[in-house]
Amino acid sequence: MIRVGVIGYGYWGPNIVRNLQGLESTRVEMVCDSNASALARVRKAYPGIKTVTDSRELIASPDVDAVAVITPVWTHYELAKAALENGKHVFIEKPFTSNSDQARELIDLAERKRLKIMVDHTFLFTGAVRKIKELVDSGSLGDLYYYDSLRVNLGLFQHDVSVIWDLAPHDLSIMDYLIKGEPEAVVATGERHLNGVEDVAYMTVYFPNNVIAHINVNWLSPVKIRTTLIGGQKKMVVWNDLVADEKIRVYDRGVNISSGEGIRNLLVSYRSGDMWAPRVENLEALQIELKYFAECIVKNETPFNDGLAGLRVVDMLEAAESSIQKRGELVRL
Ligand SMILES: NC(=O)c1ccc[n+]([C@@H]2O[C@H](COP(=O)([O-])OP(=O)(O)OC[C@H]3O[C@@H](n4cnc5c(N)ncnc54)[C@H](O)[C@@H]3O)[C@@H](O)[C@H]2O)c1
Repeated sequence: MIRVGVIGYGYWGPNIVRNLQGLESTRVEMVCDSNASALARVRKAYPGIKTVTDSRELIASPDVDAVAVITPVWTHYELAKAALENGKHVFIEKPFTSNSDQARELIDLAERKRLKIMVDHTFLFTGAVRKIKELVDSGSLGDLYYYDSLRVNLGLFQHDVSVIWDLAPHDLSIMDYLIKGEPEAVVATGERHLNGVEDVAYMTVYFPNNVIAHINVNWLSPVKIRTTLIGGQKKMVVWNDLVADEKIRVYDRGVNISSGEGIRNLLVSYRSGDMWAPRVENLEALQIELKYFAECIVKNETPFNDGLAGLRVVDMLEAAESSIQKRGELVRL
């Protein structure tokens, strides 16, 4: 049984606590939030869980094996560092840290202390992404051409980070999981309209072998859209995360080019075959992820969404931020 102390019980924290409490392999020992009314909500829902306002008390507790950091990104580094220094494994929200130096330091510290870091890249544990991963790895889609995501809605405005740091980590972690090869360069543009951070942004990531990814993130959209196209040489996927059925549709469509001699003799043919919707598992992603966290600790295995995976996402976010400041200049990774 892994005994977890959870820091942060705002919007996302209750999902973490509920899932940890529902698993056989984990138990929430303590919840910390600097806001007393958040703790009142904990006590109402879980009278048996100890609540504290000072994170140092939770982090130093001998009754806690692992600390879940579910607070805003600017607090991640300090809290995770203190947890690791106190010999606790760390489950930490995305984005891992505010910059890549902090991420590297935490990775080194965890390695020296032989502790696990898992970064909450929740989408990697959804039925949809696991199915897409299966399609990519089995070769059904063929060589990948592009990943194109539209992730827009009205709000929830964050005070400390831009829309890129808030929403793009989802796509960046999915791309990191699906696309082979390290990203080579980033181009991003964005604009601020309301509170001094970008609320609309467009990001392009170049991968080896002509794979290109584009992410459109926006807090000022009148409607919520979560649609991703993944194009392969053999098949193409449309993933609409907002529908209950047929979240994933696989299209046997594409373009074949055969050449005679010279560009004028290119023969283009279009393939327009069947569409099918594979079954997508409907289990809650966080439940699978937190169970995997406990397993990695017990079996002493490195999770695939470890600190390094978190760092790769932070590297792309930093590059995007720097490109935005230069109005869309190419930034190499
Ligand atoms: N994986 C996902 O899909 C997902 C979804 C939403 C949010 N998140 C991430 O979760 C994190 C928290 O986001 P949120 O929307 O829940 O934020 P939030 O502001 O709603 O909640 C954060 C809570 O942490 C508390 N807190 C802040 N600093 C603290 C400290 N030093 N000690 C104790 N308590 C402290 C605040 O009082 C607040 O209750 C962010 O990193 C965000 O990116 C992830």
